[in-house]
Amino acid sequence: MSQWCILGCGAVGSLMAGLLWQSAQPVSLLRSDGPRMARDDLHLQRLDGSTLTFNPPRLGQDDAGEIQRLLVTTKAYQVQPALEPLIGKLPVTTPIILLHNGMGTQIWVERAFPENPLFIAITSNGARRLERGVLHTGNGETWLGAANEAARANSALAHQLAADLALALPHAALSHEIHFRQWEKLVINAIINPLTALSGERNGSLLARGEEIADLCAELHPLLQREGFGQSEEYWVERVLLVASRTAENYSSMQQDVANGRPTEIDYLSGYLLRQARAEGIALPLQQALYQAIKAKE
Ligand code: NAP
Ligand code: PAF
Repeated sequence: MSQWCILGCGAVGSLMAGLLWQSAQPVSLLRSDGPRMARDDLHLQRLDGSTLTFNPPRLGQDDAGEIQRLLVTTKAYQVQPALEPLIGKLPVTTPIILLHNGMGTQIWVERAFPENPLFIAITSNGARRLERGVLHTGNGETWLGAANEAARANSALAHQLAADLALALPHAALSHEIHFRQWEKLVINAIINPLTALSGERNGSLLARGEEIADLCAELHPLLQREGFGQSEEYWVERVLLVASRTAENYSSMQQDVANGRPTEIDYLSGYLLRQARAEGIALPLQQALYQAIKAKE
């Protein structure tokens, strides 16, 4: 069985590592920008309260030539600096799987690793970092899809990766509409995250702000249509409200980033939408205002 190598061992990366380890799949952890991580045990606190203790091998950039599958679980703005040290060292047959919120990293990765099969993964599992590991905070779906020609040409690889993820995660499957799923998550995150980061409130607070959400969706609608998505404005409003209601008790990741004085992923959410809209000659004044307000907080 091929070994999974996790680049970005934070909340999601540790969760993935623990769940893969638990399903008896070989997994290692990579730090590409400095010394190897400490060899201490890690702990995955499961949803049922039990704890898995695990200790995967730690790799550094010099081990890049041995990596068989690379799952990148850094924040979106860390993808490029985390992958840069691996250019020219990662075998060209190694699939790269990008798993992060937001969009806008893909073009750089395609250029830096033109021959590697590139996949996108999207997950709605929830995870929170602990001092020596991770707390699994919620089950969710994970979707994997091919994102470049090398990945599309190798459907056996795509099926194998999805099947192996499905052995480990509560749900995982191959998606043939990963681009749509990416955009759908982008729209949801580009509305829920900045609104809650600015108000400091839980996601559920947005259920009382339906009109603002409808205005934000109406503004995005021409861009979504231009991207080839035929869904109505109401569809997008419903999706945003559904996620706000399913995660009503959560503080969004951006709310937590702002509250803790950390950088946010706004450049890969509103920022990405603004760049796409500009290229199409579409104005997004409401997204622009959210973008600027979050930048001011950062
Ligand atoms: P996180 O806890 O901050 O994890 C990112 C990890 O990447 C950190 O441990 C960071 O280390 C590490 N990293 C940065 N540069 C690196 C490098 N060069 N080499 C190796 N590791 C490096 O973030 P997260 O919550 O796991 O989120 C990751 C992505 O998943 C984000 O896009 C997030 O929006 C998305 N997501 C999160 C959740 C969730 O529940 N947490 C759910 C779905 C999606 P340092 O801390 O040392 O910089
Ligand atoms: O970024 C987040 O916080 C999550 O993706 C979501 C779905 C908005 C739930 O909090």
